[in-house]
Amino acid sequence: MLNLKLKTKRLNLVSTSKELISAFLERKLTNYYDWFGDEKVNEFNSHGLFPQSQKELTDFFNRCENDKSLSSFMIIDKATNKHIGQCSLQRIDYINRSAEFAIVIGELDYHGKGIATECLQKLFEHGFLKLGLNRIWSGTSILNIGMQKVFEKCGFKQEGIYRQAQFLNGSLKDIICYALLRSEWDVHKVKEIENEK
Ligand SMILES: CC(C)(COP(=O)(O)OP(=O)(O)OC[C@H]1O[C@@H](n2cnc3c(N)ncnc32)[C@H](O)[C@@H]1OP(=O)(O)O)[C@@H](O)C(=O)NCCC(=O)NCCS
Repeated sequence: MLNLKLKTKRLNLVSTSKELISAFLERKLTNYYDWFGDEKVNEFNSHGLFPQSQKELTDFFNRCENDKSLSSFMIIDKATNKHIGQCSLQRIDYINRSAEFAIVIGELDYHGKGIATECLQKLFEHGFLKLGLNRIWSGTSILNIGMQKVFEKCGFKQEGIYRQAQFLNGSLKDIICYALLRSEWDVHKVKEIENEK
């Protein structure tokens, strides 16, 4: 398999493969298999509800390599070469030109350092300019303030609320839905450049 490699200032986003994760494991540069069972990392999502079987993991890695509706990346910190999380464009729909964005930063000491924002900027470029997408969407728990801030910072528009859509810690919570269109991304980028001047 040939890996895709997208670069940002601090990160390499490398397409997910079982071989690469095994190589990182051997060199003690990833805790990948621990992240999805970690209560804190999965505070606002549905990972960690059931154990993951070997077959489910194998199916996931097969999809990463063969399924064109999924573009999954390992987030690697360039400074330490550590694998710190995963991000993806998934449910890629080439007819309606849309995809869902998802991210998990598994290493808690990398939270709050702008990593999600940096990943999203790169996946916008990949999605809009390489894959020809027109719409990137996502959703998050009403309790996930960090993720909401990331979406707003990156120019996403709130589209609505799925009411009582997520059972979390004993009660049903709302999910906030966001999306960014290609035309809005262009405007957001211009504003960012102007703010940097
Ligand atoms: C949610 C998550 C992706 C955010 O990633 P991150 O790299 O920490 O986010 P950033 O550093 O880019 O944060 C962007 C802004 O949100 C703020 N922020 C991040 N986490 C926050 C939190 N828990 N509470 C309040 N604000 C938070 C940052 O301070 C930053 O604000 P600023 O630009 O004004 O300084 C990360 O915490 C994570 O992976 N969590 C576990 C998995 C998860 O929830 N995934 C999303 C499921 S929908």
